[in-house]
Amino acid sequence: MIIKIDILLAEKNKNGLNIKDNKFGQLMHLYSLAMREVERKVNLINEDYREIYEHDLINHVICRVKTPQSVIKKMKRKNYELTYKNLIENIHDIAGVRIICPFKANVFEVVDIIREFENCKIIREKDYITNPKKTGYSSYHMIVEVPVELDGTQLYTKVEIQIRTMAMDFWATLEHEIKYKSNGKISEKVSKELVTYAKIINKIDNRLMKMRNKRFKGKVKLIDNKN
Ligand code: GTP
Ligand code: MG
Repeated sequence: MIIKIDILLAEKNKNGLNIKDNKFGQLMHLYSLAMREVERKVNLINEDYREIYEHDLINHVICRVKTPQSVIKKMKRKNYELTYKNLIENIHDIAGVRIICPFKANVFEVVDIIREFENCKIIREKDYITNPKKTGYSSYHMIVEVPVELDGTQLYTKVEIQIRTMAMDFWATLEHEIKYKSNGKISEKVSKELVTYAKIINKIDNRLMKMRNKRFKGKVKLIDNKN
């Protein structure tokens, strides 16, 4: 509580971000605790699922907290004045948890389970699986807030959760790599080619899910083949 009140109520001119500040470090620690809490909850659902259905709902989970430099870079890119208030209110992906599932249906099962998490507020959801981005990017995004205990007080802290299949992850990782290596600028030709590959990958995901539905009939919760 002390941190939040301190940060939010401090006078504007005393409220500038300084990554060398102890307050900044404490805030990043808060995000890291929130991220670990989501990771813990997610790992538990996979364990429960494995026990009931004898196979995995989730292939793996990866977590990261943005570096201070990357937080500042993003705020500058989005034209936010560098204040703690702006950071807390507008930057949703400081703590990130990525959940990689074997099949497309698993993604929606995970989404349903997260919606039911105790003490977890859903702030925003974006379904880029039903509606992929123009780039071809496909994934399910949720911004949640989980309580983190600090000095005996519970503080709700934001975490971005990205849920996708292994195939979607394969595409997103390579596309990011290709863009990154070209400083974010890729030709129209390359961009079209990437969209084509995303569509092929989506087809493969759908076909594999049909195959899985046939094989596991009665043994798994079958969800409609979205997309
Ligand atoms: P930003 O976080 O500033 O991008 O804002 P936003 O709220 O519009 O987020 P969005 O839901 O579009 O995307 C958030 C995150 O999803 C990014 O930081 C990436 O990790 C991932 N992402 C979004 N679009 C793409 C894409 O075209 N390619 C890849 N590889 N990843 C993407
Ligand atoms: Mg991001």
